[in-house]
Amino acid sequence: MEHVREFRELINKISESKYETLKYLSEYLYNMNPRKISYLVIIMVFVSTFLVLFKPYLYSFRRNGIDYKGEEVMLPEPRLKGDMSVEEAIAKRRSIRHYKDKPLTLEQLSQLLWAAQGITDEKRKFRAAPSAGATYPFEIYVVVGNVKGLKQGIYHYDPFKHSLTLIKEGDYRKQLQAAALNQQWVGKAAVNIVLVAFYERTTRYYGERGYRYVYMEAGHIGQNIYLQATALGLGTVAVGAFHDEEVAKILETEGDPVYIFPVGVP
Ligand SMILES: Cc1cc2nc3c(=O)[nH]c(=O)nc-3n(C[C@H](O)[C@H](O)[C@H](O)COP(=O)(O)O)c2cc1C
Repeated sequence: MEHVREFRELINKISESKYETLKYLSEYLYNMNPRKISYLVIIMVFVSTFLVLFKPYLYSFRRNGIDYKGEEVMLPEPRLKGDMSVEEAIAKRRSIRHYKDKPLTLEQLSQLLWAAQGITDEKRKFRAAPSAGATYPFEIYVVVGNVKGLKQGIYHYDPFKHSLTLIKEGDYRKQLQAAALNQQWVGKAAVNIVLVAFYERTTRYYGERGYRYVYMEAGHIGQNIYLQATALGLGTVAVGAFHDEEVAKILETEGDPVYIFPVGVP
């Protein structure tokens, strides 16, 4: 009971000024008998050993994401060596708005999604694009129109499994084009990669400033898509002009669509 009373007093003190708290804390530790101190040290050693040993597992619990149920398509492993240097890709990158009526391969789609949000650190589940506090506020949806070996439809990308889950079947490109102020390239692209934000994953930690971080992250992901598309000889363009609610309705998502990247063969 003595401990409880002392602990209550400590908590009461914490609600007062920081200086008073520190003073009280140092007095409290100073007056502790050596046995109590050794208990405290043992507990601290246990806790730190636990944290060091289980850190990778603790990280693996932090897998922000949505688990969709449905037909799943495993994507081919992404390549980590390409035919174009990063310098060349930066130099050649342009917004491309005209595409041939040619399909993308599953390998190309796999590579683009990996560049956008693929896992690049298996142990900690970190991804290709940086994220404030590794909060990963984005989910990626793909409006598939013309990919060899893949049904037309709306898919959700699971970065952990590197797979796509079919949300609904059908060609939704024209609907997406209409929601994007009738931009023709949206309707003509083989696929549209849509970045959808779940702000609260980031604002939970950073408050209002989290919104700014989410938009910065959209830029990082977008640039990865641009550079990967360029390196694959494909064309894309960042599309920010669209009606958010209409796009969300087409994708059947609770999140907020921030960016659309139509991709096709130029
Ligand atoms: C935030 C943002 C929003 C954009 N929105 C659109 C858009 O809705 N439609 C479009 O055709 N291009 C859009 N663009 C692409 C720009 O028009 C393009 O980047 C610019 O003309 C420069 O050309 P470049 O990308 O080839 O360097 C957008 C670019 C950014 C960064």
